[in-house]
Amino acid sequence: MEQENFETVVDRAVQKRYAAAAAEKEPALCCPVTYDGKYLDVLPQELIDRDYGCGNPAEYVGEGETVLDLGSGGGKICYILSQVVGPEGQVFGVDRNDEMLALARRYQTQIADAIGWNNTHFLKGNIQDLGLDLEALDSFLNDHPVHSYPDWQRVDQWIEQQREASPMIESDSIDVVVSNCVLNLVNPKHREQLFSEISRVLRPGGRAIISDIVSDHPVPLHLQKDPHLWSGCISGAFMEGHFLEAFKRAGLHQVEILKRQDEAWAIVEGIEFRSLTVRAEKPTSASAYKSEENRQDITAKPRDTSLTVLPDGDCCGPDSDCC
Ligand SMILES: C[S@@+](CC[C@H](N)C(=O)[O-])C[C@H]1O[C@@H](n2cnc3c(N)ncnc32)[C@H](O)[C@@H]1O
Repeated sequence: MEQENFETVVDRAVQKRYAAAAAEKEPALCCPVTYDGKYLDVLPQELIDRDYGCGNPAEYVGEGETVLDLGSGGGKICYILSQVVGPEGQVFGVDRNDEMLALARRYQTQIADAIGWNNTHFLKGNIQDLGLDLEALDSFLNDHPVHSYPDWQRVDQWIEQQREASPMIESDSIDVVVSNCVLNLVNPKHREQLFSEISRVLRPGGRAIISDIVSDHPVPLHLQKDPHLWSGCISGAFMEGHFLEAFKRAGLHQVEILKRQDEAWAIVEGIEFRSLTVRAEKPTSASAYKSEENRQDITAKPRDTSLTVLPDGDCCGPDSDCC
């Protein structure tokens, strides 16, 4: 399969699968997670059922913080976070799937009334491009349809200007970036940009708390090419060591494993896929990031994990034998 085809097939499979999973619970996408019941009381059953996460990054967030949830889906983690951060905090959820956004927004007023404050914001965007609000783009395209190259140039300029002048998520604005079972779905071509966006939006000293699915061996190409396995959070999984390295490559440090499933969630062709929750911090100043030191500071908890050392150069791609 050519790179172009691979991207289109994978992206379309993810869009289609999660549009359907917003309408109808899909048990195959649920990896059992325990949440603190007191935060679930205000959630309608529909949102509790549409839980497609694999961890609980909300456990590591504190009162008053500004949090960004990448791939917020039906909004369950955002609504838990809304209660955790309290009225002084803010919660932004980003998802590019219209059906998921509609589901998350459907209960916004009802949940805010039950909690006592409304601090959630659901935005349409690609998590690898947090500067561009896709609803603003939809509306611009509606007013300025593209029929010719000059039309397209105008859109292109508008997009650049949006990223500069009114980015969807501003640089250095977020205390905690969380994500629950989403990064593995991102096209390999955009993964470097994804981690660099996480780093861009975090304030200095802010942290990423990411739960995702990782593999214990490289995922072979024929599995990566399977759209069902990819959209099912399996064949796009990062290899564990590569996942940790990706944070460091983006300039984050103090990369730490907070939780690691002992039992595999899925085993395909002998490859184990399990959930991992990782914490990584944005240095407080450029000088605080010493690459040599950073290379050695991955802390493995609760047990040691033998980490794969990345080869030099780019790793993740549909034609590579890793991630
Ligand atoms: C496995 S679900 C997880 C949803 C949610 N985090 C949860 O815990 O239930 C993945 C979500 O990520 C969204 N998604 C996947 N790739 C995305 C991307 N590149 N940009 C924005 N959203 C994305 C999907 O639309 C879907 O809602």
